[in-house]
Amino acid sequence: MTSKTSEVGKQYSDSQKLAARARIKSKYKIAEVGWYPWVARQLPLQARDRALDIGCGPGWFWEAVVSVLPERLDLTLADLSPGMVQEAIERCQTLPFTSVQGRQADASALPFEEGSFDAVIAMHMLYHLPAPAKGIAETYRMLKPGGFLAVTTSGARNMRKMYELTTVFGSSPSDPAAATFGFDTADRLMRSQFGNVTMSQHPARLRITEPEDVFLALTSYPPGDGAKEPQLAALRKAIGSAFQLGNGVLEVDKEDGPFLSRKVA
Ligand SMILES: C[S@@+](CC[C@H](N)C(=O)[O-])C[C@H]1O[C@@H](n2cnc3c(N)ncnc32)[C@H](O)[C@@H]1O
Repeated sequence: MTSKTSEVGKQYSDSQKLAARARIKSKYKIAEVGWYPWVARQLPLQARDRALDIGCGPGWFWEAVVSVLPERLDLTLADLSPGMVQEAIERCQTLPFTSVQGRQADASALPFEEGSFDAVIAMHMLYHLPAPAKGIAETYRMLKPGGFLAVTTSGARNMRKMYELTTVFGSSPSDPAAATFGFDTADRLMRSQFGNVTMSQHPARLRITEPEDVFLALTSYPPGDGAKEPQLAALRKAIGSAFQLGNGVLEVDKEDGPFLSRKVA
């Protein structure tokens, strides 16, 4: 069974499919502070740091938080998808960083100089790697002594009420990202590589009012994106029943957070 964590080349040739999932969060999220600004607050970045964002996607994070970041950052945007790197560069090159560079790169074999970054950031991407431990070891290699790694991922109960609807495709009722690289795995692998890790959870939930947005999000990745008409009809029916049960609303709990580790100096 393929899922959100697989068929990376097809899913991320550009930001279109990712945007269908991001839309549901930005449109319906109830949180005192939005995800990206909240993550930015947790990062111990300092002025003039050299930061690597691996799996940067379209660079949305940096555009959203640049105004609250320390000054004069040198930013390297890297992603397996050349389309994502190009989009991230276009979005970020005019933002007030000291420099912005882009590079197509695989997190499992990073092509940068060893010990050359103060910060490595890997947001919601390590679950795509065949061996996330290898990706974490690579980030360790890239960091200067005293530098930090920030990883974000989702917990096992993330958006459960929504993922339960994918059982019509034969999928598991939980977030596939969390099944591959959830909170426990992130904690264990980062602690094992760095000897230290801290975690915080973003307080947020979704209150979804449009069934079509759920349909679009759940058909933005495998197997939903290739589902045949009878399965799509079954999905629409399941979504309809869930909204009916909630009197026209689908209440969904979020479970996401950043994990931070420091390379001991
Ligand atoms: C869910 S998106 C996250 C994007 C961004 N980090 C964010 O949080 O907005 C996952 C990203 O990881 C990238 N990716 C997947 N496997 C990768 C790998 N092995 N090395 C580098 N990037 C990878 C994908 O192309 C995609 O842009």
